[in-house]
Amino acid sequence: MKRSVSTCLLVLSVVLFSVVTCFAGHGEARPEKKGILLVAFGSSMPQAQVSFENIDKAVKAKFPGVAVRWAYTSAIIRHKLAKQGKILDSTAIALAKMMEENFTHVAVQSLHTIRGEEYDDLDATAKAFMHMPQGISRIVVGAPLLSVESDMEAVVDAIIANSPKQRKKEDALVLMGHGSPHPANAFYAALMFHLQRKDPNIFVGTVEGAPEIDEIQEMLKEKKIKKAYLMPFMSVAGDHARNDMASDEDDSWKSILTKSGIMCETVLKGTAEFDNMVDVWVDHLAQAMEHL
Ligand code: CO
Repeated sequence: MKRSVSTCLLVLSVVLFSVVTCFAGHGEARPEKKGILLVAFGSSMPQAQVSFENIDKAVKAKFPGVAVRWAYTSAIIRHKLAKQGKILDSTAIALAKMMEENFTHVAVQSLHTIRGEEYDDLDATAKAFMHMPQGISRIVVGAPLLSVESDMEAVVDAIIANSPKQRKKEDALVLMGHGSPHPANAFYAALMFHLQRKDPNIFVGTVEGAPEIDEIQEMLKEKKIKKAYLMPFMSVAGDHARNDMASDEDDSWKSILTKSGIMCETVLKGTAEFDNMVDVWVDHLAQAMEHL
């Protein structure tokens, strides 16, 4: 009895809520229009565009007929590109444009690696757009690459599959993550833990967080590693990968490890250049579309 009363209340509140949303905006009923907004940190390097093209292609193949828009969260990169005449939108501008184009339902997919600051900002911006009068009625944000434990499994398998073919068992694979002061930075060390259970010579360091390259260097020495393959663990092989990881500058990861007697080979390929990684983002988008 108690149960049926609460069911009734639930049904009633759902009905009332639908009535409210339907007649919001002077009672005008709007036709449903679904869209996708892909949001990356961005990169100003032309060589990095291949990552974004790869994701764009995969998303359009998975959701044919659904409009796909892009936004970059990095203001520095947007300004740099604007000077070259390439106009990229921020999340807010992209959503405002979609609002003007009468989109009623938008899945916003984060193309970030962890649930860090960039993701939090994106999530807050997207949620703010759900409260605009006559705006987009529903926005769902898709999770970044590493979000839940099952992502960890898929990403570990993808990294192992994407490891350079010429790498021998005794060679290390050192991944360069971005890193962040955000608590979600812990995902990098967690990823290394899961990787090493399957392949003890895979290491994960970061440029702007922990673990730092010094710690990775110590781990490599402890294991008496002679040769290491360096690869970015970022969606694009952009500025960090080309300069902080692979350049001949004194403080690049290649230089630091070479100086300690480890032979280095660099692989300039972002994670989004690999289809098995793109699949993880596309799965998260599919989940967002289901809840739209
Ligand atoms: Co950076």
